[in-house]
Amino acid sequence: MLWARRIESRHKLRRKISSVLPSSWRWTLGALTEKAAVYTTIHTKSIELYDKQGMQLAEELKAKIPPGSTVLDFGCGMGRPEKFLSSYCKEIYGVDISGGMLRLARKRHKNVQNVHFVKCGKTDLSVLQDCTFDFVFSEAVLQHMVKEHVVRILKELHRICKSNGKVYLQFCNLLCPYNLDSFIKYSLGSKILTSIRMRYWLPQEVQQVVKALGFEIINLEIKSDSRDENRDCQLDDYRRDYSIWVFASKK
Ligand SMILES: C[S@@+](CC[C@H](N)C(=O)[O-])C[C@H]1O[C@@H](n2cnc3c(N)ncnc32)[C@H](O)[C@@H]1O
Repeated sequence: MLWARRIESRHKLRRKISSVLPSSWRWTLGALTEKAAVYTTIHTKSIELYDKQGMQLAEELKAKIPPGSTVLDFGCGMGRPEKFLSSYCKEIYGVDISGGMLRLARKRHKNVQNVHFVKCGKTDLSVLQDCTFDFVFSEAVLQHMVKEHVVRILKELHRICKSNGKVYLQFCNLLCPYNLDSFIKYSLGSKILTSIRMRYWLPQEVQQVVKALGFEIINLEIKSDSRDENRDCQLDDYRRDYSIWVFASKK
């Protein structure tokens, strides 16, 4: 069928382009416009849905962030929850490797005084000082990073957290049937997959690695992404337990 062949060749082209470009450029190409960045982030073009998800994430975060905290969003993209969190926090910093995402994030928050966006390196956060943050969160970022790079970033997050500061981080769970299936398909060279690579973790792996880098685990939750309900791919048993969320404290 013509449409299937067109999708396949588009995916082929995307994969080819992404295999030669550095990862920051891949994300920047996906952030040429606000709509493109929304699509890159949540796989729909609806800015309303993007904002709705940002509001929901902000509510989840408020239950964990002590009021008046200095907060970091690692891999912030356009800053999905920032504008809904800003009045609750002292300062919010978003860091990202993509200049394109940061440009859109700054535009989106031009009237919000206490939200700042800063470019970081792929595995270093040297732009941020030691012991600065009360709370660090990250969604839909570590799932795209090489595991060794995640380890280096966890070490950096430990450095920039205040003593007793908290991290709340999302990983992609290999044990979710959808993720396991995608991993196997990708490994066998399936073409009908996104050009942005996913990396999967086991819950025990997350727990041990986060612990080994100097954090004390408060809670490890396996969550279905209820904010995904309006995506093309409906939430059902197949996508159950999509994410591992680790909540931990700097020892
Ligand atoms: C799917 S988007 C998620 C954006 C945002 N966290 C959200 O949930 O709306 C992934 C983001 O991670 C960023 N990213 C990928 N690798 C990164 C790295 N090593 N360091 C910082 N940011 C990274 C990308 O540039 C992109 O903006």
